[in-house]
Amino acid sequence: MTGTPGTTTPPRRLGTAPAPAELDPAERYSAAELAAVQLERLRWSLRHAYDNVPLYRRMFDEAGVHPDDCRSLADLAKFPHTTKQDLRENYPFGMFAVPMDQVRRVHASSGTTGKPTVVGYTEQDLSVWADVVARSIRAAGGRPGHKVHISYGYGLFTGGLGAHYGAERLGCTVVPASGGTTARQVQIIQDFRPEIIMVTPSYMLTLIDEFERQGIDPRSTSLRIGIFGAEPWTEQMRREIEERLDIDAVDIYGLSEVMGPGVANECVETKDGLHIWEDHFYPEVIDPFTGEVLPDGTEGELVFTSLTKQAMPIIRYRTRDLTRLLPGTARPMRRMTRITGRSDDMIILRGVNVYPTQIEELVLRTDGLSPHFQLVLTREGRMDRMTVRVEARTDCPAERREPAGAELVRAIKEGVGISTEVAVVDPDTLERSVGKLRRVVDQRKPRSAG
Ligand code: DLL
Repeated sequence: MTGTPGTTTPPRRLGTAPAPAELDPAERYSAAELAAVQLERLRWSLRHAYDNVPLYRRMFDEAGVHPDDCRSLADLAKFPHTTKQDLRENYPFGMFAVPMDQVRRVHASSGTTGKPTVVGYTEQDLSVWADVVARSIRAAGGRPGHKVHISYGYGLFTGGLGAHYGAERLGCTVVPASGGTTARQVQIIQDFRPEIIMVTPSYMLTLIDEFERQGIDPRSTSLRIGIFGAEPWTEQMRREIEERLDIDAVDIYGLSEVMGPGVANECVETKDGLHIWEDHFYPEVIDPFTGEVLPDGTEGELVFTSLTKQAMPIIRYRTRDLTRLLPGTARPMRRMTRITGRSDDMIILRGVNVYPTQIEELVLRTDGLSPHFQLVLTREGRMDRMTVRVEARTDCPAERREPAGAELVRAIKEGVGISTEVAVVDPDTLERSVGKLRRVVDQRKPRSAG
């Protein structure tokens, strides 16, 4: 951002801002330099995992591979995958590779079923994490001196504290708002005048509505940049948020098992997918059915291997997130396309695979419909049904509701290939997000054996 924060006419969009001079040296590595660093670190990470985590030793031995077998980056494909189940079975600290007195912090992901997965960090891990989040905020257009309002939840979730220490590392002033107390957050944004907000896209919508409820034009706030992640969102949602708030909205990705937020981030000048900080997190995309590594550019399941993590090295972790790897643009490191959904979020309706993001895109293209919607799944006899409950926009005339609903039914039939019912409901009647949103309300009785 080149304008003075707080003046009445700061530059609106950062699309033309030059890449900052103060990038990490790693962000400028050539392909050959990067590959050399990755290989050296990969060999260390495999060795560290094998020597210090019983699960990895057992898995490598069973697969007949040894860390010394990794002589090139492609050799990683010989090593076995790790899954969330492996982490659960080693609850709470069985995946740690250092003595407990070297673990400075733990986080845990709640998980809807079973035990949470626990992750740990040494002092150096926390420092690397702060570095990659600082990189991420800078890629989004953040600069030292900016105020960053953080509405990701603080606590066992990695969002709040992960964003927090990264923003401090960059030299920003942090406002640690955490999630919830929405009316108060709006007050604080008005009074403290942050340039940047970090929050889930769904909670951003809740905050925008609250601005409007308080009679404040959301386009008039001090906010210039939003760094949104922790849940899937679409290009249509980016447009919605950018227009309603008059900000640049960029995507941040991460997961606790690999680190937390800041594994990958979009650059504001291109907004063309997320650069993976692959000097620390080595990505592969695999065929989710066969496990085979797919060439860059092909869609599949994202898999990560940590290259520098001490407390909890993670080898070929299957994220369940679907994406493609693409060459670098604004930075030399590779990009991933925005996550359309996790395989876990996929709804199978009468044999057709549906992701909530597909519906989001179509809802937001329908005149009169707001971005607040739920997918309600029911079963009648042996027939699964999906009802899209979607709020009308506040300015949607009453006579527009029915045609809007009918248009959405048609668009879903044509675009996704399924018949749904659409119920257009009054504004402000569906549950609001305060963190990660649950789009799907499954009222079907569980099938036998899950
Ligand atoms: O959600 C870490 C995070 C916090 C990322 C704040 C970004 C911002 P977990 O709770 O472990 O960690 O959930 C990780 O969330 O595997 C994806 O399915 C999903 N996810 C995270 N970021 C994005 C994104 C944090 N930008 C899981 N787009 C991941 C789509 C995302 N899905």
